Amino acid sequence: MTPPAPIIATAAVLYEAGKPLSIEEVEVMPPGRGEVRVKMKAAGVCHSDLHVIKGDLAMPMPIIPGHEGSGVIESIGEGVTSVKVGDHISPIWRASCGQCDFCMAGRPALCDMGTRMRFEGVMPDGTMRFRNSAGTPIRHYAGVSTFSSFATMPEAAVVKIPETCSFEHAALISCGVITGVGAVTNAARIHPGCTIAVFGAGGIGLNIIQGARMMSARQIIAVDIHDTKEAHARRMGATHFINSRDRDPIQAIKDLTGGRGVDFSFEAIGLPITIEQAYDSLKKGGTCVVSGICRADARAQINVNQLVYAEKTLKGTLYGSMRPRVDLITLMELHQNGKLMLDELLTHTYRLEQINEAYEALERGEVARSLILFS
Ligand code: CU
Repeated sequence: MTPPAPIIATAAVLYEAGKPLSIEEVEVMPPGRGEVRVKMKAAGVCHSDLHVIKGDLAMPMPIIPGHEGSGVIESIGEGVTSVKVGDHISPIWRASCGQCDFCMAGRPALCDMGTRMRFEGVMPDGTMRFRNSAGTPIRHYAGVSTFSSFATMPEAAVVKIPETCSFEHAALISCGVITGVGAVTNAARIHPGCTIAVFGAGGIGLNIIQGARMMSARQIIAVDIHDTKEAHARRMGATHFINSRDRDPIQAIKDLTGGRGVDFSFEAIGLPITIEQAYDSLKKGGTCVVSGICRADARAQINVNQLVYAEKTLKGTLYGSMRPRVDLITLMELHQNGKLMLDELLTHTYRLEQINEAYEALERGEVARSLILFS
């Protein structure tokens, strides 16, 4: 067998925060030891990339964003055992080493190796596998860079998925679904019959609503500033919708819960104001879970005495506090069993060339979830 050679791919490259992504041809190096090269089939248009694109979260550049998706293994490097050429995969946007204390504790999203890859934009060995036409190395976003028709990734950043799961469904599950459903089942661990409020009915928030429906929450109150989100939220299981531009959401939530507040609140936007509102909407003994990603320098103000006198809990969750290697497959089965809705999440599809347009539509609040589809 001849060793794999570099491939020319089409990718969306970010050279400077605040500027549009540049669609261009890049060279994708063959996979080294413990690496694979993936032919991308679908990539999710997620808000977290927008933080990097807009400069809210500083990253070294140039970089190819994109962290959700699905694809096919095009080639494998030496020593790769968990996948073979032709396998369908989903990328894992926080690769984990499998050996550190976080990994051993079942919290792979906190793995130091994955954290370093995410913030430095590198492979585990600290180098890069993309080059532009001028020969400049390009960084990897979260080790996966799904906004490229081909990408080299560590084996630790891919999971083999069943071929019965479509590429579109796999891409939806790989970030929005696992993060939202996991926030409910793994981070909050809600109980049947509880009341919940969700701030933000976007890609994550809709899946928090869906997770709460699956866990038989009694009241599911969605809060957003776009009336267009109401239909999406109700379809996923919301029992109430509050437009927080028209009404104070804290008072509205209290009104719906006999003046007490909700058992669990979720913040899926990434703004200090909505984190404060989510915390203030809690009933005594309630738990507020934050999954939204704020600007790097953001601070929020909460009444700390309520942590004691009201026994409130404020906690965060990354990747839904799930174990993607296992839980992505479980979620695929839940869809097959008719318990997890996926088609209802997908409102728009685009070609990679339309990526800037896709992000503009996301910012205008027009979409539930959108995907880039590769040929
Ligand atoms: Cu995402």
